[in-house]
Order: sequence, then C-alpha cells, then structure tokens
Amino acid sequence: MCGIIGIVGRSPVQDRLIESLKRLEYRGYDSAGIAVYGPNGVARCRASGKIRALESKLSEHPLEGTIGIGHTRWATHGGPTEANAHPHRVGRVSLVHNGIIENYAELKAELATKGAIFESETDTEVIAHVLNAALEAGLAPLDALKATLDKLTGAFALAVLIEGEDSLMLGARRGSPLVVGYGDGEMFLGSDALAVGPFTSKIAYLDEGDFVAIDHTTARIFNSEGHPVTRQIRIVAASAALVEKGNYRHFMEKEIHDQPESCGHTLSAYLNPVTGKAILPPGLDFAKITRLQIVACGTAYYAGLIGRYLFESIARLPVDIDVASEFRYREPPVTPGTLAMVISQSGETADTLAGLRWCKSQGMVTAALVNVHESTMAREADIVLPTHAGPEIGVASTKAFTSQVAALTALAIAAGVARGHVSPDDELHLTRVLLESPRLISAAFQMEDAIRSLAPELAKARDVLYFGRGSMSALALEGALKLKEISYIHAEGYAAGELKHGPIALIDESTPVIVIAPSGPLFEKTMSNMSEVMARGGPIILITDAAGGRQAPAGIKVLIAPDCDALVAPLVFSVPIQMLAYYVAVQKGADVDQPRNLAKSVTVE
Ligand code: AGP
Repeated sequence: MCGIIGIVGRSPVQDRLIESLKRLEYRGYDSAGIAVYGPNGVARCRASGKIRALESKLSEHPLEGTIGIGHTRWATHGGPTEANAHPHRVGRVSLVHNGIIENYAELKAELATKGAIFESETDTEVIAHVLNAALEAGLAPLDALKATLDKLTGAFALAVLIEGEDSLMLGARRGSPLVVGYGDGEMFLGSDALAVGPFTSKIAYLDEGDFVAIDHTTARIFNSEGHPVTRQIRIVAASAALVEKGNYRHFMEKEIHDQPESCGHTLSAYLNPVTGKAILPPGLDFAKITRLQIVACGTAYYAGLIGRYLFESIARLPVDIDVASEFRYREPPVTPGTLAMVISQSGETADTLAGLRWCKSQGMVTAALVNVHESTMAREADIVLPTHAGPEIGVASTKAFTSQVAALTALAIAAGVARGHVSPDDELHLTRVLLESPRLISAAFQMEDAIRSLAPELAKARDVLYFGRGSMSALALEGALKLKEISYIHAEGYAAGELKHGPIALIDESTPVIVIAPSGPLFEKTMSNMSEVMARGGPIILITDAAGGRQAPAGIKVLIAPDCDALVAPLVFSVPIQMLAYYVAVQKGADVDQPRNLAKSVTVE
C-alpha cells in the first residue's frame, strides 16, 4: 500500500528519489518523505499530502547527498500527518516501510518500559526503535537487522540508512514486495520494477523473508535463516519514462480509451486470429480440470463473476468464486482436480496473495491472471495468465478489468474446446466474435457525449442503484464500485431480480437507477424490474442497444451501446459504466486518478 525507494548512488539523489516516488504514488499518497546521507550525516524531509508538497519543502531546503531513501504513504496506523510520514528516525536509524507490523503494540509497550519515546502513531517507528536498540547493544548492522526481523510479526518491505555507515543500505521483505536494482556503480531498492525503472532494468526480486545489504556495487542477499543466497537478476523493461496522460485530463480517461488496444493486446495472447483457435498457456489442460476456484478482490472479483458465467455456460465447468479476504476462512473442501485461479491487476494484493498461498498449501494447481507479469502472484503461481493492459495508473481499474474479462472469455472458449463442449465450428465462431470486441469497445466511445450530458444531474444524487441480469449483474456491481470510489456518491449494484426483495424500499425520485440491459433473453424481465422502479418514481438511466432502445418506455434516459453478441456484452457495456462514473467524478471536481482513502495496490490484509 505504500511505495519505497532506496538509492546508493554516485551522484545527488534527491531528485531521483522524488522521480521514483512519483512513479510509486499510485501505491499511496497520504504523505511522503526522503532521507539523504549528506556531509553532516542523515538529513530528512517529510510532508503530509502528495509528493508535490514534499517537493515544495525541498525547493526551500534541498538535501545534499548521494545515498538516500524515500517513501510515499497510504496510512494504516496513524493519520496522514507529517509526524506519521516516513522516513522514521530513531537514533542512528532512518527507515521506510511498506506493510503492517501486527505485533507493534506489544513491542511498543515493551520499548516504552525501557524508556523509549515515540514521536508518531505508526507501527513503522517501532521497527526503527528495535533496530536502533540492537545497534546500541553492539550488534553489527546485518546482525542487528536480522535480530530485528526475528521480532516482527506481519508484513514489511524495508529500506534502512544507518548513521556512520555512509555507503551501506539495508533492506528486507516479508509479505510486501521489494526489488534490488543493479546499476552502473550504483545500487537500488524499490517496491517494484517501476520504482527503479528510470535507473536500471537489471532487477532481482527478493523472496519472502530475504534481507539484503547493498553498497555501490554489490548486494549481499540472505534468506530468512540468515544464509547467503543469490536471486536471479532479470532484465525487466519497466518503462523508463513516466506513463504519460497524453492529451487526456486524467489517467483514468486515457485508460478508458486505451481499452480497444489493451483488450486486443490481451486477446492476442489467447486467440490465434488466423486459425481462429484458442491458445492455452503451457501447463493449463482444462481436460484435467474438474472445478475452478476463483479468488480476487474488488473489480478483479467482478471480472471473476463474469468469468463464472462464461466457464459454466460455455465449458460446463463448475466454478466457485470468493472475495479473497473471506476465502480462507470458509476453509472450502478441496475437490481433486480443482484449478485455483487468482485474478489481480497488481499481482500484489495481500488478501488475494494469501488466498493463492492457501490454495497452494492445499495442493491445488494455481494460476494467476495478472497484469504485472513479474509480480509476487505471477512468481508464486504454477501458471501465469497474463493480461496485457500495460501499466494502469488510475486507482479505479478500467482497462485492467476489461483485459481480465477478455482473457477469461478466451479461456472459457479454450476450456469448452478441451472439455468437448465447443465444436471446432463453434470455436471458430466464438473466437471471431471475441476478436470483434476491440472494435466494438471503440464504437462504444460514441456514447461519450450523451454520457457526459447526464453527469450534472447524476452528480447531485446521494444514492444511486445499478442493476442488471446475468453477467450484467456483475457489471452492475462494477459500475457501482466505479461511481462510489471516484465520486464518493453511495452506490450499490444488484441482480435486477433482487430489487423487489428489499432494496426497492430505497427507491424514490431522488434515487437514480442505472439499468444495464442489452436486448436478448433477459431483457423483458429486466424491463419488468425497471417498471417496478418507475412505478415508485425512481429516475432511470437505461443502458441498452438499439433494439432495447426501441422497446424502452417513455420518460427515461436511454444510452445506446453498439449492437453486440452476448459473449462480448460485458466488454462493450463496461465502457458506459466507466464513463458515467468518470464524468460524474469530474463534475464533482473529485480527484479522479487518486481518490481519497484509496491506493492502487492494497498490499495489506
Ligand atoms: C478497482 O477500481 C479498485 N481500485 C479495487 O477494487 C481493485 O480492483 C482491488 O483492490 C484489487 O486490486 P488488484 O486487481 O490489483 O488485486
């Protein structure tokens, strides 16, 4: 949930630390800070709020030095204040941390009995106290770090400077990602490849429990037992340039418009446009899979709900799906032959990662449908199912969601073929339909002006309901999440048939209802549900296609999406629900790309 960077450099590091923190801001932006080892020892600068607040402080009081650490924070323990901002400093120790120390209160109480004074409310400061005490007890830096890590319960990625060690930086990871970057006479630590991307593409991913000491030229890596280990150095082409917005006002607007490309790019990994055949990654044999267990969070979970419809209807493959934060506690009995599939844009979501690890512990074959192909989930799953959406910077997921749905659709076709439920002709037909989706997504952009015109009215709402049937009920959930997470308007998504079992009590003329209903076998019933709402004065926005529009009753607002096969309706109808949320948020002047209280990658449970 936070981003960390460390540079053991040969040239001034302040600006490079800031550059990296800007690339990490998607991981959290409640506060930021850097510490630099300068001519007079380690100096620190911190600021509440976004990185630009830190930049303006540094413009008045720059920090000299070629070795430094930086942090951008998503608050877990203690508010987004400067006192709680990282780096935290105790005695000789300055450190930055991503994660949650679960036993911090116990450690804090123990330290307080020994006279420790705390400046912040954070768990991170406790780590600095423990490490400083170990140093004061005479332990060498690495021994002091190991002794400290052995006392911690919970998740951490750390970068540490120690006064008096002016060419040394320590790092460690457990439950939160940390990479080592290998430069030319310089070394780096970072939360991910993007953090160190401007400085090097030679990267080693630390494993669970690893800790490391870096200087200008080497990294000494140790496993959790303290034994020296080596970790593979890979060339990771994390884009060196900051992902730009281009001509768009927000990353989210850009990423909505990236979807024809990101969807097409993803499909190219699963469909052969020449042969019309579905392509499966090595090791994935649906003929041997008896059941599918999907585990995910948030938008990725809603993509999984759509996946369930597809796998069960096309491949006749039984699917269980759980939100990751609940999954482990259900302790599901494992059916032999079950494939566990985690879905995650970042590949680092702690709840989903914990679900993956639980499934592995049960002996299940695991697959990770991820957008970050070097992420922890990608490296721990048996099979990687990549989406190719490119870096998604907007906290509200858009192109990653449709890329997930596109991949799941292609995989459902492949599963249908492998399980004998999809004939070669059907495969050809389904593949052709699916390959049409990038063009249809692009055609859906023609709805943009009509959607923008609805925003001023919708922005006044206090509550909004979304409903749909079949896979559109999953889109109703996704649409509601989009609206609430970027416009802060309360919104709920329901299966249309559920409305009459309670939620309809919410309906009055001040509660807009967004109905997602392409024409087809479920349209009539959904219209009945819509009539129930209209009878109670609820204002309706119907998102449908031309045929549905012709049947729509008078007196409601209708958005017409491109005609499309039911197979790709979830992809095409994603565009209007994304745009609706976007334009309402813009109308409200909300911080679209970095909504309050959120972060792009939730690496704490
Ligand atoms: C989506 O708009 C949200 N930002 C959030 O629900 C997100 O989908 C969820 O945190 C899962 O993230 P992941 O895909 O990186 O695992």
